[in-house]
Amino acid sequence: MKVNLVYLGDANDVLRTLPDESVDLIVTSPPYADKRKHSYGGVHPDKYVGWFLPISSELFRVLKPNGSFVLNIKEGSNGQRQTYVLKLILGMQDQGWLWIEEYIWRKTTCMPGKWQNRFRDGWERCLHFTKNNKFKMYQEEVMLPIGDWAKKRMSNLSKKDKSRTTSATKSGFGRNLLKWKGRARVYPDNVLTFAPSCSNRKHSAVFPKELPSWFIKLFTKEGDVVLDPFIGSGTTAIAAKELGRKYIGIEIYSPYFKLALANVKSVKKVQRDSYD
Ligand SMILES: C[S@@+](CC[C@H](N)C(=O)[O-])C[C@H]1O[C@@H](n2cnc3c(N)ncnc32)[C@H](O)[C@@H]1O
Repeated sequence: MKVNLVYLGDANDVLRTLPDESVDLIVTSPPYADKRKHSYGGVHPDKYVGWFLPISSELFRVLKPNGSFVLNIKEGSNGQRQTYVLKLILGMQDQGWLWIEEYIWRKTTCMPGKWQNRFRDGWERCLHFTKNNKFKMYQEEVMLPIGDWAKKRMSNLSKKDKSRTTSATKSGFGRNLLKWKGRARVYPDNVLTFAPSCSNRKHSAVFPKELPSWFIKLFTKEGDVVLDPFIGSGTTAIAAKELGRKYIGIEIYSPYFKLALANVKSVKKVQRDSYD
């Protein structure tokens, strides 16, 4: 299979030309329903699931059995919240996808705004799907510094803290704080805080490079193949290239295709250190 390239075309057609079980990770942000009609179309919310399911069926075919699919998406509101994302999840489960997790991308610096019946959207979904319960996941690659709270808390551990204790709330959760004493890094939670990208004004819906980078580190190793079937300005390919992964992108709109090509070309070499 050819890698490290961006195709100009409809994802629904181009995906059919890719071999079975050839991709390690799919990270993408498709057009959301009814959004950005003037730049690259916008599928009606009622037709969204019907539009997307043939594409997710092809994604299922090209993904390796131990691979992952991360879908960044957010439904809009028209008086009340649209339900097409919820219906899409159910439709994808019918196709055989396992819905493993919902990560929340918390957008830190959104513009302020005023709505009649709600507040500004400050987050988007990153839905994690797989084909199997056993999939590649390298949790150590996304660990975080333990933070200052640990210095004080860990210096004064009670007897209870030093053994596995079950939560007093009867939630079933257990913890053993002693396990984390002396550690410099801890596992993150499923809320990812990244500022929306403001630097790429030539595309109206760019996600920050940190978003695909985080999932690329979590679900792939160097040399693995990362696919984005709605590549836009090329962010996923840039992240993959910088992290030493192979990439495949698809973009239907010629100006964005050219933009992606130029952006990816400008990434000269693997810059691992900038992510560590
Ligand atoms: C939300 S944007 C992706 C932005 C991208 N994540 C980035 O950071 O630049 C979705 C992209 O999908 C493209 N697109 C829409 N329909 C498509 C299709 N059927 N096949 C391939 N690309 C499509 C749009 O032109 C748009 O650039």
